Amino acid sequence: MKVTFKIWRQENVNSKGELKTYETDGINEEMSFLEALDHLNESLVLKNEKVIAFEHDCREGICGQCGVVINGRAHGPHDNTTTCQLHMRSFKEGDTIIVEPFRAGSFPIIKDLVVDRSAFDRIIEQGGYITAKTGTAPEANSILISKGISDSSMDAAACIGCGACVATCKNASAVLFTSAKINHLNKLPQGKQEEHQRTLDMVFQMDLEQFGSCTFTGACEVECPAGITISNISEMNARYFKAKLFS
Ligand code: FES
Repeated sequence: MKVTFKIWRQENVNSKGELKTYETDGINEEMSFLEALDHLNESLVLKNEKVIAFEHDCREGICGQCGVVINGRAHGPHDNTTTCQLHMRSFKEGDTIIVEPFRAGSFPIIKDLVVDRSAFDRIIEQGGYITAKTGTAPEANSILISKGISDSSMDAAACIGCGACVATCKNASAVLFTSAKINHLNKLPQGKQEEHQRTLDMVFQMDLEQFGSCTFTGACEVECPAGITISNISEMNARYFKAKLFS
């Protein structure tokens, strides 16, 4: 299978980037998208050219490292699919595939397709923990949690922190990510002790990182590979109001 890649190349955060064209042959339609990039990089090595920098870890849709914009969509053409789970059978012989990094002021480009998403880590540091006694694990049924609450918390916890929501939002807002991280712990009895402080601190850090404001367009929900819904945002706003009242 022959495809043409147009890939964003940028040496570092201060340099000017540009799309460079690469004609590739020998792509197998069973290859994952990242394997196709590996294949392209191997050919660049043989030509003594600099390889394309891109991020990945699990290649199983879990870690959130691999996000890029493919033909204008974060993570490519399919819903609920990360870049690493995308396969070349989603493209046709002779296609031109444009690959760009996630773009946002709070995600500076480190090199080529790799962006610095440490702003997300700093938001999590503000409240992504609970207070629990040390020692052996408590008996599983000592804290009863209804199925509805546990399911809803797990839905929010499905966020893999890839940044597709930020890259897709016209305001580069991180509200979908932040709300998922706040809600999944605040819903559970184990997260109640820090509930209000968690909400205030994580929202404060999100603003400090200069992500844009949310205008509730819903674009983030459409492109989220983990299916995080914008109902999380409404819930976070209600929690923020309550936290302001009680803190
Ligand atoms: S490499 Fe881990 S989610 Fe894609």
